[in-house]
Amino acid sequence: MTAQLTDGSAVLIDGKAVAAQVHERVRLAVAEWLAAGHRAPALATVLVGADPASEIYVRNKRLTCEKVGIRSAPNHLDADISETDLLAVIDGLNADDAIDGILVQLPLPKHINADKVIERIRPDKDVDGFHPYNFGRLAQKTPTLRPCTPFGCVELLKSTGVPLAGKRALVIGQSNIVGRPMALELLLLGCTVTIAHSRTRDLPEEVGRAEILVVGTGIPEMVKGDWVRPGAIVIDVGINRLPSGKLCGDVEFATARERAAFITPVPGGVGPMTVAMLMENTLVAARNRAGGQ
Ligand code: GUN
Repeated sequence: MTAQLTDGSAVLIDGKAVAAQVHERVRLAVAEWLAAGHRAPALATVLVGADPASEIYVRNKRLTCEKVGIRSAPNHLDADISETDLLAVIDGLNADDAIDGILVQLPLPKHINADKVIERIRPDKDVDGFHPYNFGRLAQKTPTLRPCTPFGCVELLKSTGVPLAGKRALVIGQSNIVGRPMALELLLLGCTVTIAHSRTRDLPEEVGRAEILVVGTGIPEMVKGDWVRPGAIVIDVGINRLPSGKLCGDVEFATARERAAFITPVPGGVGPMTVAMLMENTLVAARNRAGGQ
């Protein structure tokens, strides 16, 4: 067991500490990569418009790149850029041999078709793992570049030291970024997986059966603590800002921690892992592009 804080009844899964371990692993691997005569892995970030949250996320990604020795190449584009012009920027980055990974920060402005942009990224540079090729690789049990948030949740689950194979897992939310790839990751871990969504009947009953619970709905505290199965591992992907300004997850934390064996806090749980796994994916992309060394 690594990187957990004991606090209350459930053990808190310390995402900052697990992320720091991933950063260190990537930093050492990048140093070895440079020592072997390669150039630094390079990540192009693409930010369209001036959404404050997206600006913070992208800045955070670039600062973490610096920390681990990855070169970041920023592309900050006007909110009114046309879809055609954005696709041309992607084409340029696809063709640029000095770029290993391309990250287009979502959401994009409404006049741009995000699926079209994602599908334009070369699959071997798709460090978000959102391209249908990479999604298909994960679905077919041969993952290459894997969606960062679910990949980070896997690291957190493994950090508990609990054997995961055979466990009954419930994912709440079926988004392309979190729920669907998370279910595929849990299948790879050998779990028996259920996906719940807005049409699911009797959600409390489903939650009550789950030995592993991963929630990514964007609905503040929608999972009530007294639904949680005693001894469950609870991974809360939600980051919601309440009218008071306080951050909260998709799970009612104070009551859930009384029943769970392990639980992620918000903030400081899943959040830091998304960026950490992006660093890992960028290193993997650089290695694969250099011929799988
Ligand atoms: N917006 C919210 N989550 C993500 C993510 O994982 N990657 C990108 N590119 N944008 C996001």
